Amino acid sequence: MAACQIMKIYKFPEPVLRKVAEPVKEIGAELQDLIDRMGETMYAAPGIGLAANQVGELKRVLVYDLTPRTESPSLSVLINPEIVYGEGEIVYDEACLSVIDFSAEVSRKAQIKVRGCDRHGKPVEVEAEGLLAICLQHEIDHLNGKLFIDHISSLKRALYKRRLNKMLKKGEDAETMQ
Ligand code: NI
Repeated sequence: MAACQIMKIYKFPEPVLRKVAEPVKEIGAELQDLIDRMGETMYAAPGIGLAANQVGELKRVLVYDLTPRTESPSLSVLINPEIVYGEGEIVYDEACLSVIDFSAEVSRKAQIKVRGCDRHGKPVEVEAEGLLAICLQHEIDHLNGKLFIDHISSLKRALYKRRLNKMLKKGEDAETMQ
């Protein structure tokens, strides 16, 4: 095992977050390693879901774990996930490890069915509702180069971008002053 498993989480507006991830064709040691590192990175953040785009890998892989903190963690993996069914509506205040200092209410499908493969390449079908349905839609969006801020009004998004630019500018100024 590598000494440091934690990967860099790319933040909006990094271009890799806007790219469509490629389907996984081979499930080998390299992919297992990526999955392990994504899991470590997600737990360390901490987060409940992470898509490969967020760590700069354009592969259709996502990890998630909605196990309560009081129980031992149980990492779930979906490779080449596809939403095959969705109905109803659920609104939730979403945030993202790649979108700093922001959350907003997003409307999603309330019940979904997702097909994909587990980390061994075995086909799996996940029926999800509530927070799991939200999480999976959010992570699959990432694989398609989409962020939760794409689901909010253009005015709210513009205000966030302006605030973010100010924050980033401040950060740069602080760096140059050092
Ligand atoms: Ni996210």
